[in-house]
Amino acid sequence: MKIQIINGPNLNLLGVREPSIYGNEPIEGYIEKLREQYPIIQIDYFQSNIEGELINKLHEVGFSYDGIILNAAAYTHTSIAIADAIAAIKTPVVEVHISNIYAREEFRHVSYSGRNCRGVLTGFGLNGYRLALESFL
Ligand code: DQA
Repeated sequence: MKIQIINGPNLNLLGVREPSIYGNEPIEGYIEKLREQYPIIQIDYFQSNIEGELINKLHEVGFSYDGIILNAAAYTHTSIAIADAIAAIKTPVVEVHISNIYAREEFRHVSYSGRNCRGVLTGFGLNGYRLALESFL
């Protein structure tokens, strides 16, 4: 089974960025732990701060991988292009947010991408990525 995790803008700063909201753990170590926990799954990780690169990655893996776990970060709330890319591909996408977007500012309550996803996990910290992985098993 091949799963692609895609993280959007500012998520390269996990561990140092607003730790009271996003925690202290860098994502790279967390992904390594996931790979150890699920050795039979190929878990690929991609992060970009650039909207078009996220779309290119969705296109690249979206016809061959078994699942995509997407945290489009702030683009969740703004990007019709990412929402369209999710609708255009064959691989199911599960949306993840580390924080609970519904418990935060009103502008975060809208997810353009979520409507084209199989499901959305929000507010479970980094654990949300593992729960999304489980959903594909
Ligand atoms: C986020 C929530 C978004 O509103 C925010 O812009 C992010 C991270 C999350 O994982 O909680 O960058 O997607």
